[in-house]
Amino acid sequence: MKLSLIKGAFLSTLFISSSIIAKPNLEKGKRLYLANCIQCHNRDPNLKGSLGPEMVDAPLEVMTSKVMTGLYPAKLPAGYVPKRTTKVMRKIPKLQKDIPDIYAWVQSVKKNKKK
Ligand code: HEC
Repeated sequence: MKLSLIKGAFLSTLFISSSIIAKPNLEKGKRLYLANCIQCHNRDPNLKGSLGPEMVDAPLEVMTSKVMTGLYPAKLPAGYVPKRTTKVMRKIPKLQKDIPDIYAWVQSVKKNKKK
């Protein structure tokens, strides 16, 4: 009796934590990238697009700042160098909760991972 209670509590903890720590949805990230980013960026995030640069080297923090404000973060992450000095990108804040999925997809297709 006691044991099955403990087992039940353990299993429900496992269940709850696996649904909170959700895995990134790469399919969704790709779909949103193609729908929202390739007017300016390349279909292949490793390459320059018509207006926007390649974005595989931008950390999540930088992508979040670009998408939420249009701007690079005021304090850049150590070792990261922006590809441009321009301020052309517009913010797309409706994508806030989807940025981790877009980021995960971009990183999943990144070439030269060691750099
Ligand atoms: C209206 C054109 C446009 C759209 C749409 C756009 N971008 Fe950009 N993006 C740019 C430009 C231009 C830059 C270069 C800096 C600047 O001028 O803002 C840039 C820079 C970036 C950078 C920084 C790259 C680097 O390392 O320097 C990231 C990350 C980025 N964009 C992500 C995105 C994502 C993700 C989307 C779609 C959700 C998106 N952008 C949509 C034009 C755009």
